[in-house]
Order: sequence, then C-alpha cells, then structure tokens
Amino acid sequence: MTNILVTGGAGYVGSHACKCMAGAGFVPVVCDDLSSGHRWAVKWGPLEQGDIGDRAHLDDVFAKYQPAAVMHFAGSIQVGESVANPALYYRNNVANTLTLLEAMLAHDVKKIVFSSSAAVYGEPDSVPIEEWSRKAPINPYGVSKRLAEQIFDDFGPAYGLRHASLRYFNAAGADPDGEIGEGHDPETHLIPIILQAASGQRARLDIYGTDYPTPDGTAVRDYVHVTDLAAAHLAALKYLLGGGESVCLNLGTGKGYSVREVIAAAEAVCGTPIPAREKPRRAGDPPALVAAADRVEDVLGWRPQYSDLRQIVETAWRWHNRQA
Ligand code: UFG
Repeated sequence: MTNILVTGGAGYVGSHACKCMAGAGFVPVVCDDLSSGHRWAVKWGPLEQGDIGDRAHLDDVFAKYQPAAVMHFAGSIQVGESVANPALYYRNNVANTLTLLEAMLAHDVKKIVFSSSAAVYGEPDSVPIEEWSRKAPINPYGVSKRLAEQIFDDFGPAYGLRHASLRYFNAAGADPDGEIGEGHDPETHLIPIILQAASGQRARLDIYGTDYPTPDGTAVRDYVHVTDLAAAHLAALKYLLGGGESVCLNLGTGKGYSVREVIAAAEAVCGTPIPAREKPRRAGDPPALVAAADRVEDVLGWRPQYSDLRQIVETAWRWHNRQA
C-alpha cells in the first residue's frame, strides 16, 4: 500500500480527495491541526493531528509513514480575512508551505499536488481564463497561492521537486454518497448560504452586486463539483508518480453561472422560493471568472462528471439536510 501525506485532509476538498484516493488503493495519511477541518471528515486513513508549520511534527510523520508524495490542502481560504490579516495568510499559506517542502526534501519526497486557486489570476482581462493568462492577484490570499506556485517552480531545477498546482475555480457540492460535505465556519460561499436561506436557517441571502456587465447583472462563476476536484487530484498524483513534469492546471468546467442562475437552480431543487435582497458589490469580486478547461483534459485526461449545476446543488442540499 502506498501512503500519501495529505495536509488539510480533514477539510472540505481534502476529505473528498482522501475518499477518492482510498478508492484507488492509496492510504491517505491526514496531517491536520483541526483548526478548521473536522475529525468526522477523516475516514479513509490515519489522522496525525498537528500543525504543518511544526517541522518536528512533520519529521515524525514523514519518518513514520514514508509517503510517496504529498497532497497539500492545508491553508487559510477567506479572501476578506486575508485583506484584514495578511500576516496570517503569508504565515499559513507561504511560510508553512516552505516548512513542508523542506521536510519533504529532507525525507526525499519530491512530488506535491497543490491546492491552488483561480485567485492567482485576479481580475482577468477576458474569460475564459487560460493557464498562461496574466497572474495579477488582487488580495493577499491570491498572492499567497501564487507565491507557493513560484516556490515550487524554483525548487524544480534546484532540488528536483515536481508539482501539480491545481487552480480551483468555485468548489461546490458534496459527496454523492452523503458521507462528507462542506462545513465552513463562518460560511461565506454562495451555495451553502443559499441553502441556509432555503431551509430558514438564515432569513435571506444577500446578492452582492446587480450591476455587473453580465447578462443578468450578477457575478458569474465557474462552479465545479468537489468530487470532480478530488478525481483531478488523484489523476495529478498518478501523473506525478508516473514521471510527469511540473504543471499548473485550471480546474473548472468552462461554463459560468450567474448568482441569479444559481438561486433559480436551488429553488428548483429545494422546491421553495428563496428570499434574497440586492446589495452592493462585495469588494474585490470580479464580474466573471470562468476557466479554460482544455489543458487539464489534455494533460490528465480529466473531465468533470458531477459538475452539472443541478447535481451540484442537489448533492449540497442532501448534505445540508443531513447536517440540519
Ligand atoms: N455571493 C453573493 N452572496 C453571498 C455569497 C456570495 O452574492 O452571500 C456571490 C459573490 O459575490 C460571488 C459569487 O456569489 O460573485 C460566488 O461567491 P463565493 O464567495 O462562493 O466564491 P468566490 O467566487 O468569491 O470565491 C472563490 C473561492 C475563493 C477564491 C475565489 C477566486 O471561494 O477561495 O473564488 O478564485 F479566492
């Protein structure tokens, strides 16, 4: 059995990736401090609770499990928080990534699949966004992801590190079997917030911006199912284990939906009108973020299977009702 070290494996995308890897015969060894992840989400391998900024802890885990590669999900993910507290983002997403890399190299582990973000592009000049499009992140969260990618690139020629940096667009949905799902606190993502409004857990949802240059005036995003993201991580892992070169890839569907379209899809799934009020734009939200999704298909043979908007909302709704 091949061990894979999974930082942040108790989190939303990380836990779905663990399930997917276990299904393919790998043992996901989760390294997570449970600051935002959940013990209940670690079901497919051991949990080594600890901080990835703690080198001694990492050394113990690498020595104990001798992983063949690392999947690196651990990090802070809230754009607004990164503006208010950039030190936290540079510590958690950059400095701790460096500590992780140093530990990997000390234990002769040279392959990493990394949880990057469309936030590395900032406000795109045009959509769909290609991997080579200008990288101009507009907040410390996006900068921190871009810096990590840059560090990996520099570590390639110097130390033989190979990375697959996967730039997620909007991760959404939940495990179709209902075993795991999204559980952020506070919740800032559109679909869980819509579902909370649908079930009466919150009075209404706020639509941030109705004056964007989009067909219905609300912002457009490329929603990709978390199970599809997990499958892409497995494919990237196999690619690196098979000798593949370092690569940065968009993970999106190539199709965007507006906030109003997502609300309409949720109303159809939940069978109830969803109370919403119109608010001004949220600072730093670009009008449209949609991936060019061909490169990942060429390199990894990955194509989304679950990312139809209705299926995303249905799986999220089932998970929401389980939690309620
Ligand atoms: N939105 C609302 N109301 C809400 C929440 C969101 O109208 O209550 C809107 C946002 O303005 C945005 C869209 O719904 O237009 C999606 O918002 P999310 O917060 O779900 O996701 P973002 O697109 O803002 O953020 C995602 C990732 C980030 C990443 C960013 C850019 O969650 O990690 O894409 O790549 F940084």
